[in-house]
Amino acid sequence: MNPKLRRLTLSALTALTAVSLAIPFGASLSVQADEPLKIGFLVKMPEQAWFINEQKAATALGKQDGFSVINIGTPDGEKVLAAIDNLAAQGAKGFVICAPDVRLGPAIRARAKTYNMKFVTVDDQLVDSSGKPLADVPHLGMSASKIGNQVGQAIADEMKQRGWKPEEVGALRITDYELPTAKARTDGATQSLLASGFKKENIFDAPQKTTDDEGGFNAASPVLAQHPNIKRWVIYALNEETVLGAVRVTEQLHIPSADVIGVGINGAGEAFAEFQKKEPTGFYGTIAVSSTNHGKESTQNLVDWIKNGKQPPADTQTTGKLMVRGNWQDVRKELGI
Ligand code: GLA
Repeated sequence: MNPKLRRLTLSALTALTAVSLAIPFGASLSVQADEPLKIGFLVKMPEQAWFINEQKAATALGKQDGFSVINIGTPDGEKVLAAIDNLAAQGAKGFVICAPDVRLGPAIRARAKTYNMKFVTVDDQLVDSSGKPLADVPHLGMSASKIGNQVGQAIADEMKQRGWKPEEVGALRITDYELPTAKARTDGATQSLLASGFKKENIFDAPQKTTDDEGGFNAASPVLAQHPNIKRWVIYALNEETVLGAVRVTEQLHIPSADVIGVGINGAGEAFAEFQKKEPTGFYGTIAVSSTNHGKESTQNLVDWIKNGKQPPADTQTTGKLMVRGNWQDVRKELGI
């Protein structure tokens, strides 16, 4: 090769190498330094008011503190894993999750590890293959048994208020025994009801498939239809959506609302709508918990962990307050929902 040409080619190559090394490398460094932190917020039921509130609170915290939140609905296991891949591709450093099935625990943990992502759970604590909680994943959720106790107590107090005799009342207990927090909530309610003198043999189980209105409706229908002799009903479940679904069945069966005491858990949009109806329905009340705080605190825990290496508390348990037609607006304000 002509030496001149050779020198030219070499210097061009050197220049090219320098350029290709310098620019992209420098550029990617500066992008990383400037780019705000991204995290994900994954929920099992993105249409449920409780989860909408949580995601909103997380997004608001991000706006305030300069990080961005990618909200994703993940109603099944495949969607959860795809969402984690998607978050990684977008450069997210971690996520908060309420999984559609707590037994996905080991799969979620393995996928997060592949991308070196940190994650925390909210509401539903993940379990391993033997059903034990994943102790190394920080969790924030309701103090389920205590909140269940509050449900049972509220029902017992209202039965007394209405002058109902325990022997003439049936309890519709809508259950999801695959979700530990759900079982703890309904067990807590049962415990307080029995302590108040409720008859054990008058409690009827209605297992639910999904933890929403439809799940409540479908679970309640056959059980209520099987007991036309029972005129007065109390209804409880893991959340207010389920109880509302069951209350709709009592309406279809023309059971007067004065003969129904349904008490839920959550204190989100659907309960507010029910309290605003002109006439009281069979939905007497709900134990309200701050979905705003659940969203905000779990996000804050994750962000502190990513940014400052501060390990979040292993298990935070939140409390609730009885919300009824008469006080719902005050309780809502108080809990910042
Ligand atoms: C579960 C229920 C939700 C809500 C949360 C609150 O995930 O399905 O409706 O009650 O718990 O922790």
